[in-house]
Amino acid sequence: MTTTIQAIDSEIKEAADKYAEEIFRQSDNNCEFVSILKSDAQKRIYHDMINYPDEFKDKPKLLNVEPWNGKKPLGPKDFLNKKAVVLPSLPQILIQIKRVVNNPASTADDLVSVINKDPKLVASILRLANSEAFDLSGTIDTPSKAVALLGVQKAGLLALGTVSFSMFKKSKIAVLELEKFWQHSIACGIIAQEIARTAKLGDPDPFFVSGLLHDIGLHIIFESERNLAVEILRLADAKQISFYDAEMEVLGFNHAVLGGVISQDWELPPNLVRAAAGHHDPEIIKTDLEAAVIHVADYFARALGYELGLSLIIGDLNKDALKTIGITPFQFIELIPRLRLLIDETLKTLNSD
Ligand SMILES: [Fe+2]
Repeated sequence: MTTTIQAIDSEIKEAADKYAEEIFRQSDNNCEFVSILKSDAQKRIYHDMINYPDEFKDKPKLLNVEPWNGKKPLGPKDFLNKKAVVLPSLPQILIQIKRVVNNPASTADDLVSVINKDPKLVASILRLANSEAFDLSGTIDTPSKAVALLGVQKAGLLALGTVSFSMFKKSKIAVLELEKFWQHSIACGIIAQEIARTAKLGDPDPFFVSGLLHDIGLHIIFESERNLAVEILRLADAKQISFYDAEMEVLGFNHAVLGGVISQDWELPPNLVRAAAGHHDPEIIKTDLEAAVIHVADYFARALGYELGLSLIIGDLNKDALKTIGITPFQFIELIPRLRLLIDETLKTLNSD
C-alpha cells in the first residue's frame, strides 16, 4: 500500500517538474531569478496537481471557429481602425480625473468631488484603499478619507487605474478568461509596487497603476476577433512559443505596442504609456525604468502562478531589466512570501461583494 502511495507521489512530482520545465522552456535557467522561480513553481504545481487536478486537464478546443482570414494589419493603428475592434471610449469621468491628476494645484476636494460622481468608482476606490496593498486596511470608509490618507496624486492615480480597467467588460468572444486577466493585472501591479519599494525606485504607487494597466493591448487583441485569438494560441502551441511571440508572427506587432498606442490615444500619463508599450521590448527595457519594472513584474507574476491562461510558456526574463532595477536574488527570495500575501489578500478584498 505504502509503496503504491509512494509510487503515485513520485509520479505527481515528476509530472509537476515536467510542467514547470515547460513553463520556463524559453527562460535562461542559469539566471538565479529563474532558478528561484522554477523551484517555487515545482512546489506550487505539485501542490495544485494534488488539490486541483482539473486545472491540469487539457482545455476543450474552441470548436466551430473559422480559420483566421490571414490579413495582416499594416500596424497597430490600422488594426484599431478595423471594424472588428471595439475600443472602449474614454468616459467623461476619466477625463476629469486626468485633469485633477495633471494639475499640481488640485486639492483633495477637487478629486473627491469627481470620485463622488460615480458610485462604482467610490466602491472601487474604497476597496482598493482598504486592501492589504495600501497598508491602511479597514480604516477608510469615505472617498475623502481615502484621498486625505493617500494624497491627491496617489488617490488620483488609483482612480485613473480603476476607471480605465473597469472599461474592459466580458465580451462574447471569451477567449481570454477575464478573471485571470484581472488577477494577473492586480498581481503585476502589486509586484511592480513592491519591486519599486525594495529597490528604492521612488514612489511605488505609480508602478502599481502601470502594472494594473500594462496589458490593455492584450485585452483588445484577444477580444477583437475570435478566429484571430484562436490562431495566435494555435501558433503558440504548435511552435511551443510564448503568446506574445505568436502575436508578432501573426500580426507583426504584439499587445505591448498596441497597448502603448491605445494609452497614448487616451492621453494617459507618460509613465503608463511607456510601461505598456515597452514591457516586451528589449531595447526600451534597457533604458526605461518603468518598462523594466513592468517587464520583471509581469514575468514574476506569471512565474508565481498569476498567469493569463493563454499559453504555458512565459518567455524569458530580460537581464538588462534586472540590472536597470538593481534588485538582488536574495532580496527577491525574501520578498516572495510578502508578494503572495499582498496579492491574495488584495484579490480577496476586491472580490468580496
Ligand atoms: Fe504583456
